[in-house]
Amino acid sequence: MTDANPKTVYLKDYTPFGWILESVHLTFRLHPTETRVVSRITFAPNPESHQDRFFLHGESLKLISAKLNGQPCEPEVSPEGLTLTPPTGSFVLETEVEISPATNTALEGLYMSNGMYCTQCEAEGFRKITFYPDRPDVMSIFTVRIEGAEPVLLSNGNKGESGDGFADWHDPWPKPAYLFALVAGDLVNHPDQFKTSSGKDVELNIWVRKGDENKCAFGMKALKASMTWDEEVYGREYDLDIFNIVAVDDFNMGAMENKGLNIFNSSCVLASPETSTDDNFERIEAIIAHEYFHNWTGNRITCRDWFQLCLKEGLTVYRDSQFTSDMRSAPVKRIRDVIDLRGRQFREDGGPLAHAVRPDSFVEINNFYTATVYEKGAELIGMLKTLVGDADYYKALALYFERHDGDAATIEDWLQVFEDVTGRNLKRFKRWYTSAGTPRLLVTEKFKNGRYTLTFKQETPPTPGQPQKKPRVIPIAIGLLAPDGTETHPTTILEMTKRQQSFSFEGLTEKPIPSILREFSAPVILQHDITNAVRAILLAHDTDPFNKWEAGQALRRASLMASITQGAAPDSAFLEAIAKVVRDDTLDPAFRALVLQPMSQDDLAQDLTADGQTPDPRAIYDASETLAQSLAEYLSDSLTRLYAASTVESPYRPDAEGAGKRALNARVLSMITRMDGGKTAQKQFEHADNMSQQLAALNALLAQGHGQDASEAFFTQWQGDRLVMDKWFAAQVAFSEPESAADVAQRLTTHPLFDMKNPNRFRAVFGALAMNHAGFHHISGKGYTLLADWLIKLDAANPQTAARMCTAFQTWARYGATHSDLAKAQLARILATDGLSRDTEEMVSRILEG
Ligand code: PHE
Ligand code: ZN
Repeated sequence: MTDANPKTVYLKDYTPFGWILESVHLTFRLHPTETRVVSRITFAPNPESHQDRFFLHGESLKLISAKLNGQPCEPEVSPEGLTLTPPTGSFVLETEVEISPATNTALEGLYMSNGMYCTQCEAEGFRKITFYPDRPDVMSIFTVRIEGAEPVLLSNGNKGESGDGFADWHDPWPKPAYLFALVAGDLVNHPDQFKTSSGKDVELNIWVRKGDENKCAFGMKALKASMTWDEEVYGREYDLDIFNIVAVDDFNMGAMENKGLNIFNSSCVLASPETSTDDNFERIEAIIAHEYFHNWTGNRITCRDWFQLCLKEGLTVYRDSQFTSDMRSAPVKRIRDVIDLRGRQFREDGGPLAHAVRPDSFVEINNFYTATVYEKGAELIGMLKTLVGDADYYKALALYFERHDGDAATIEDWLQVFEDVTGRNLKRFKRWYTSAGTPRLLVTEKFKNGRYTLTFKQETPPTPGQPQKKPRVIPIAIGLLAPDGTETHPTTILEMTKRQQSFSFEGLTEKPIPSILREFSAPVILQHDITNAVRAILLAHDTDPFNKWEAGQALRRASLMASITQGAAPDSAFLEAIAKVVRDDTLDPAFRALVLQPMSQDDLAQDLTADGQTPDPRAIYDASETLAQSLAEYLSDSLTRLYAASTVESPYRPDAEGAGKRALNARVLSMITRMDGGKTAQKQFEHADNMSQQLAALNALLAQGHGQDASEAFFTQWQGDRLVMDKWFAAQVAFSEPESAADVAQRLTTHPLFDMKNPNRFRAVFGALAMNHAGFHHISGKGYTLLADWLIKLDAANPQTAARMCTAFQTWARYGATHSDLAKAQLARILATDGLSRDTEEMVSRILEG
């Protein structure tokens, strides 16, 4: 990115706001196109700031009137905000503005979704509601009055007075404006209660549109489980009389942790066995936990500025993954997290959008809600915990909560508590926060006179703006196996701090087999040349479930690479080793399902690029298909047995055990469908009483080109259910052949139920297209052209979602000239669009510039 961009914001320029906000009173008079917002704020000079320019953010606001200490005044208003010459000392500023929620398609600020008013203020949406110092380090106590005809009127904090056409809310906890929320609509609630560990009663509600009441019970259960878990594991209690969750159909992200009033994308809270898959249930449970956990890591302790975003997001993702591990299976959760990390974060870290977990500049902060900030941010917490040990980790967290409660904090504050608790110097560890890129960890071994030495070398490729990389602190969890597979050395942690470093084990009788980076103890790319025979031993015997799975992945990757680059047939040693695991009924079905999961074709393209090759999407697709076919044939005599053994009887329960069996069942079904023309899948489709099994059958049929009838039946059955329809749109694109993926997506955009303005629907079609690797990167360029057409259209209505979807193009430069020229031309076309948003402009420029 060019530093010349005048809109760039820098971490180094941070200065505190010149005033303290002693109180904030807001009155909303709701109207679809003429909502009035009256704000009365008491300002007092901030003794910790020298800033004397009085500027309040404000965008798309029509100023009706302003009063300073009760006297009418005329502040200067620009498209960015309001300035005036403030009196010395404290003063009260009152403003009244008009806004138009019904025409707000950006879904940021106050907007409408199916007749209901709702808000989204993170990161900088509050400035679209009223004039305000819209920055996270300005915290205040909010009192809100809502006036409107809607039967349900909600805001943050505790309930005050309410009556016909109005409701008062008061939030006793000081908060930044990004945590403000308001909801008004004709909603129904699913109520419950919770008693906190110190005996406080909390009223809980999930608010939904009429007709969705029957999809709230699971979310409520997850909320209560999260509240209990945070008390037990982190000693964190809830701090208001009421906790509200609202489901909204039109939402740019997953959900939002507004104080006491979480707002959720309906896809991330509504659940029922008939309409939600096992993956949906798990994700809903995790997101409810995530938003709830933010109450302490995000709300009570917030971020000083948006460069510190990972302070709340990395930690909260880490906490929600701990929660899921405790509620379900820890090894399965870890494997799934690593698949996701490699698919999204490594991809980002290895391309033009690479940025540090704590970036030091940005143009549009909305573009930094990334896999790096969230998922790599969470990995850094996990590494810290591994390095200091569990006991000190929880001591440090207790100190963090005690020392910084009520603060807007920084990564420096966060690391300081760990230094104070452990006496360690974390200066080197901090590089993980400030330096982008995924380190490669090269391993070599030596065995001599009973002494086994492992030498590690770390190398991080250059990333945009960071050509040179210093070595990182890498916790390497390692165990040793004897050649027959018995574990001789249980897991220990090697702490690598240098560019190159050796570690020795003494007194061995034979050369061991190392199991390196157990539990994926650091977000690095391990490069270790081992034979397939050794991999097969690890797959069969490693006691670490992650590395056991990883050994299978390594075998699969080796086989695929040989097919792609040399046209080799699928490796029979791979087929044999995988088959052994899959047939082993003593192993967790969820684990076996993961071992069967095909490798992402995008990951393969990434690996080829790292090897200095030019990936050909079609060749990758063909090799993947051939391997899947061979595996199905290899396992053919076991498929019927495996299918029967993994079929779960009714009634459906969304627990980890059932989900694991169904996951295996779905993998087996997809293999059977390669062999039986779709007979079994069609039968499953017709008889399924839950979405997991129904969708698994539809997917299997679509993938083999037998899905026409099932797809029509699915549509007829579910056309009235928005969330299920998203699945229907997505499945058709996701399981299209490379030749037709873009055409199918194009055709779906003409479907009466396609609505560009609904982010879930847009993502259903175009997210699925972007994920269909060989379809999106089709040699004709039709995938690129179609997506660019729609990003241009969407950008005019919803910049935030358009900008996020541009990430589909982030890998353009890794492909050969035919592909990359076509992609580049489409990126250039987007960039040349008149009136392009700052969001999309920043993304496309970074993608093009690298
Ligand atoms: N803060 C939200 C979360 O991670 C994500 C979010 C960001 C939602 C910006 C909306 C807008 O929980
Ligand atoms: Zn979050």
